[in-house]
Amino acid sequence: MDLNQVLEQARQEAKQITSLHELAELKAMFLGKKSVLNELMKTMKQVSVEEKKMLGQQVNACKVELESIFLFRRQEIEMLAIEMRLASEAIDVTLPGKQIAKGSLHPLTIVQQEIEDIFVGMGYLVEEGPEVELDLFNFEMLNLPKGHPAREMQDTFYFDETTLLRTHTSPVQVRTLKKAKGAPVKIICPGKVYRRDNDDATHSHQFMQIEGLVVDKNINMADLKGTLLEISKKIFGDDRKIRLRPSFFPFVEPGLEVDVSCFQCGGSGCPMCKQTGWIEILGAGMVHPNVLEMAGYDHKKYQGFAFGMGIERIAILRYGIDDIRHFYTNDVRFLKQF
Ligand code: DAH
Repeated sequence: MDLNQVLEQARQEAKQITSLHELAELKAMFLGKKSVLNELMKTMKQVSVEEKKMLGQQVNACKVELESIFLFRRQEIEMLAIEMRLASEAIDVTLPGKQIAKGSLHPLTIVQQEIEDIFVGMGYLVEEGPEVELDLFNFEMLNLPKGHPAREMQDTFYFDETTLLRTHTSPVQVRTLKKAKGAPVKIICPGKVYRRDNDDATHSHQFMQIEGLVVDKNINMADLKGTLLEISKKIFGDDRKIRLRPSFFPFVEPGLEVDVSCFQCGGSGCPMCKQTGWIEILGAGMVHPNVLEMAGYDHKKYQGFAFGMGIERIAILRYGIDDIRHFYTNDVRFLKQF
């Protein structure tokens, strides 16, 4: 038997197989009990000692060579398996990722942030105050002592005699003045406010306001008017004019209501402005001397102006919203539009 032929056959067959299982079978075929080599060994008894020695050496050398053929193929097969696995597990980083539905800012947040930006650009600080407020700050120190008739317009939810849900952001005026201890202030304060009210298309027991307060030496109504004109233009467009009407708020004197020229018709009259050409946007005035004095400011040295606007009101005008309740019912069909 030609052992070289055996080796050549083993090489050829090893090339054909692709699995370790097949390799084990092949190995048994060439090196196992029933292999050609074993058969050959069995014939050894019949040959001479010389021949036996030579044959034994040849068979052993052949076995060693076979082992190395199979080992080599084994390594190749294992390598191939790793390569296939790597290829199948490769991640295509160029594939688009899973789309996650994106939320958007609430329209009231959009308007609030926009107004904050305008005021910050004019040098105002943004203050915050608590929604659970003292009667002292919500009313008394704003020149609305207990029993004052103007309190009736702002009935609210009381926790006890002294604590309530704030009815406006104006108490932050008092808090800021007390904190500033006689130094000039220039702040706005956005936040939620509460009133006992029956909810309908134009009323809500909870809504949002932005308060503004400037106190310094030599502040007069021209400063107030200039500021209000500036922000009206920034919010409603450069062509806007404003109109000041006398009004009453106990914490200012004089008190004003401020109208902006209609941004829909430009002032000629339309349904938006109820044919008047003007839209009311906020309340304002010069800080009442009593308020300054109660907060520890000498009203002869210091003057100030204050204003308060409804964020819902601005958003309703801006986006043409027909029912204030849309802001609070969390209907995504509404919220998605902003
Ligand atoms: N706090 C008032 C309200 O809620 C609005 C207001 C009016 C605020 C005049 C002011 C102001 O600061 O000067 O109705």
